Amino acid sequence: MTDPRNRYSTWVEVDLGVIEANARQLTALTKATVMAVVKANAYGHGAVPVAQAAARGGASWLGVARAEEALELRSAGIGLPILILGPAPVAQLAALIAAGASLTVTDEVQIDAAALAARDQQATAKVQLKLDSGMNRLGAPPEAAVNLARRIQQQPSLSFEGVFTHFARADEGMPEPVQRQVERFEQALSALVSAGLRPPLAHAANSAAALSWPGTHYDLVRVGIALYGLRPSPAAPLPAGLRPALEWKTQLTRIRSVPPGEGVSYGHAYVTRRTERIGTVPVGYADGLRRAAGNQLLVGGVPVPVVGRVCMDFCMLQLDRVPGANEGDEAVIIGAQDRTRLSAEQVADRWGTINYEVTCGIGARVPRTYSQ
Ligand SMILES: Cc1ncc(COP(=O)(O)O)c(C=O)c1O
Repeated sequence: MTDPRNRYSTWVEVDLGVIEANARQLTALTKATVMAVVKANAYGHGAVPVAQAAARGGASWLGVARAEEALELRSAGIGLPILILGPAPVAQLAALIAAGASLTVTDEVQIDAAALAARDQQATAKVQLKLDSGMNRLGAPPEAAVNLARRIQQQPSLSFEGVFTHFARADEGMPEPVQRQVERFEQALSALVSAGLRPPLAHAANSAAALSWPGTHYDLVRVGIALYGLRPSPAAPLPAGLRPALEWKTQLTRIRSVPPGEGVSYGHAYVTRRTERIGTVPVGYADGLRRAAGNQLLVGGVPVPVVGRVCMDFCMLQLDRVPGANEGDEAVIIGAQDRTRLSAEQVADRWGTINYEVTCGIGARVPRTYSQ
């Protein structure tokens, strides 16, 4: 990808061998059934190739957020069980049932809509009941679990496959908030068992819980960020061996010596103090590089500052620390060059956000390239 003829580009490189190895290690570490969470285009990595690599590494479920994401995986020929982690719009139920995806339901209206859509096409819809044990985002109150489970069981066109919840604070390194949610979830599970309504699958753990709180594994763990080799948070570090799979790169399109006192980029927010070598790279905020102060890229293994405002399609680098840099040389936004590495976490710290948002934010127009 360092072909100098290809100067007008920025691209992502994903090592699918790393995704596969991460999935294998997560399966071994958790000793649980692993659902690879591949929503949001696999956190920016590319949903279809990541799903395939995760499956090779032992993941036996896929988790997505949207109907379109489930249908994209099915169109690519991926046959693994897929759970849409939140309720889907009624208009998309028929397509999802036809695709054999598992639906999430949180109330009577959604249960009845799923049952009707399945009946209409003489099919059975697999459904999972989501309980809100403390995230206060989605889900039924745990106390409603038995009534809702009964309603599901009463519908001949529904198959009650699972019950699940989601943690709000599993990445903080403190057991108490997780424990509070576990207690509420387990009360609902016990009530379902007593009523003879416990479905085959119960699950709760995201990456942080899967890695830090083994008591939350139940029948399956839903791992997203750890599959990509990124840590859930500073308080939930990754075990040794899990590695980041994604690098984000660009190339120097143009290098010019700019005289002292010249402004660079929109608004001339940066003014040269002496004659400075200014390099232009074709990556901008439309690609996901935020228009924030303090951006750095690697050139020749050296971190160099972005100077002036980030444009939609370009930004400018101050290259005085790398006098040997040439047009066509690679510049790294996330990844390694020589022995220096810029991590998604470092970028996130600079932007005051989390690593999740950095990789999810890499623009759709940035080509994803893959190696094994
Ligand atoms: C319901 C649900 N489960 C699992 C995950 C995976 O979380 P993580 O990427 O922290 O492993 C997410 C992601 O936000 C989620 O919304």
